[in-house]
Amino acid sequence: MTILVTGGAGYIGSHTCVELLQHGYDIIVVDNFSNSRPESLHRVKQITGRTFQTYYINLLDKKSVEKVFLDHQIDAVIHFAGLKAVGESVAVPLQYYQNNVKGSLILFEVMEQFSVKKLIFSSSATVYGNPKTVPITEDVELRATNPYGRTKQMIEEILLDTAHADSSWSIALLRYFNPIGAHESGLIGEDPEGPPNNLLPYISQIAIGRREQLRIFGNNYPTADGTGVRDYIHVVDLAMGHLKALEHMQKNHGIEAYNLGTGKGYSVLEVVDAFERVSGNQIPYTFVKRRPGDISSCFADPAKAKKQLAWQAMRGIEEMCADAWRWQRNNPTGYRIISEKTPMQKPTSVFLMH
Ligand code: WQD
Repeated sequence: MTILVTGGAGYIGSHTCVELLQHGYDIIVVDNFSNSRPESLHRVKQITGRTFQTYYINLLDKKSVEKVFLDHQIDAVIHFAGLKAVGESVAVPLQYYQNNVKGSLILFEVMEQFSVKKLIFSSSATVYGNPKTVPITEDVELRATNPYGRTKQMIEEILLDTAHADSSWSIALLRYFNPIGAHESGLIGEDPEGPPNNLLPYISQIAIGRREQLRIFGNNYPTADGTGVRDYIHVVDLAMGHLKALEHMQKNHGIEAYNLGTGKGYSVLEVVDAFERVSGNQIPYTFVKRRPGDISSCFADPAKAKKQLAWQAMRGIEEMCADAWRWQRNNPTGYRIISEKTPMQKPTSVFLMH
């Protein structure tokens, strides 16, 4: 089976490409490298020993998207491509609606045009907004509170309407909680551009000496130690959730949402403690005021994915931190090659072979 992976060069995309290739799928990657680097795909080939084709295109370019479907017999699509920074989405909302919603619409139209109706959509727990109760089940009301989360919620609603209009679609909406960690090889991992917004990459950059100290956003939340609680999930467990969803949709039509989380919440201080233990590095921190838009506690009830997809997270917080640290230690500047003088060398052609 050939799987089209949009955003396949990204953090979760590259980890999912590894698992797809190692489980016998063929893949085609589409990426505009706006928030990723071709180097991650070279590493995917290095890990798996398998080659694949990559198209350096933007989903907003419908003709280029159609060409991918003309060139290949695509059996299913995993759609990761999208802008994903909450803070940035508040500053430039139109860019997020254009890129995430319009880009998805074009992809879905082309899929329909070529009768490719198996889709896994990379959604997010952000669609739940500030949950009234935790753990969170898939049937609660969606109440995204920022433009990024609203793009995910809108795309889910577009897909709900599509599936209700045409029962031949098979769609899985995978709502990620907080993906962290890296492949055990240390060859691929999270590589944010600029100062990391997210907790784990910030901590690992402190440990490697790129950042001074962690600012903990608020220690007066109604949690055990006052700091925010989240459901951190190992990125490889997350990748395996996509393969299980792919298997499930071979035998099932219709549309379903699944929480991909561990079902266990950890506070910021607990994550810092776990990282210090596994890395042997002290992480200096200071408490500052809450970050606007942050919520107190958010963690999943992953029972539906366990029941319907036969999937559950297998890796604990220490393994997540150890794998994140191995990636960062082996790649102090991420995928950037230190000798790189200019900004990332964008690919010179639309078509790349990895
Ligand atoms: C986790 C905890 C912070 C950084 C975001 C997106 C979400 C998803 C995952 C895409 C919180 C605290 C963080 C720091 C801190 N992305 N923190 N100091 O906000 O739960 O979710 O990433 O789908 O959409 O919203 O993750 O890692 O930013 O924060 O104290 O420098 O760490 O307050 O409690 P978040 P995060």
